[in-house]
Amino acid sequence: MKGLVVFKGRYGSTEEYANWIAEDLGFGLACSDDIKKKDLENYDVLVIGSSVYTGRLRISDWLEENREILLKKPIYLFTVSGTHPTEDRILQRILNLSIPEDMHDRYRHYPLHGRLVSKKLTLKDRLFISFGSRIANGGVKPKGNPLRDYDYVARDSINAMVEEIRRNIEA
Ligand SMILES: Cc1cc2nc3c(=O)[nH]c(=O)nc-3n(C[C@H](O)[C@H](O)[C@H](O)COP(=O)(O)O)c2cc1C
Repeated sequence: MKGLVVFKGRYGSTEEYANWIAEDLGFGLACSDDIKKKDLENYDVLVIGSSVYTGRLRISDWLEENREILLKKPIYLFTVSGTHPTEDRILQRILNLSIPEDMHDRYRHYPLHGRLVSKKLTLKDRLFISFGSRIANGGVKPKGNPLRDYDYVARDSINAMVEEIRRNIEA
């Protein structure tokens, strides 16, 4: 069984998770910008990872571009976001907006918690977070600092996902 982990993040947390997953499963690893359609055909199983930006998956365009091939493969999708992994409704809305409709019931989703280090953000991203949170709060500055740093990235968080994929591919 030949597997590949394809990811698209921005500041490193998605890539970090992707690396750990590829290592634990013995799968290949590629950023979605570097993988060609014909290369995807060579894999039996795909693990796809994306961070969440402005309410969408960063990898959503790539999913649309490769839709036909992806529909033929078992897909395990992990998302990395500031949204807590138990916030099902919020995460489901993000998935619905970002994933081609005919793929909706064809993947298993694993939500992972991400990291924000405000001093590493581009100016555009800092502004987005500052003003985006105000817009989402009806134009009123929300309580608390929206640029507050957090880091929930932990190697253990992938254990259940890796075990489930391992069980499925061995079955
Ligand atoms: C500009 C910006 C927008 C973001 N938008 C969202 C969002 O809409 N929902 C969310 O849950 N997290 C959001 N996040 C948090 C990221 O998903 C989180 O920091 C993630 O770990 C980033 O992954 P990366 O390090 O691979 O880029 C946003 C972060 C930034 C910098």
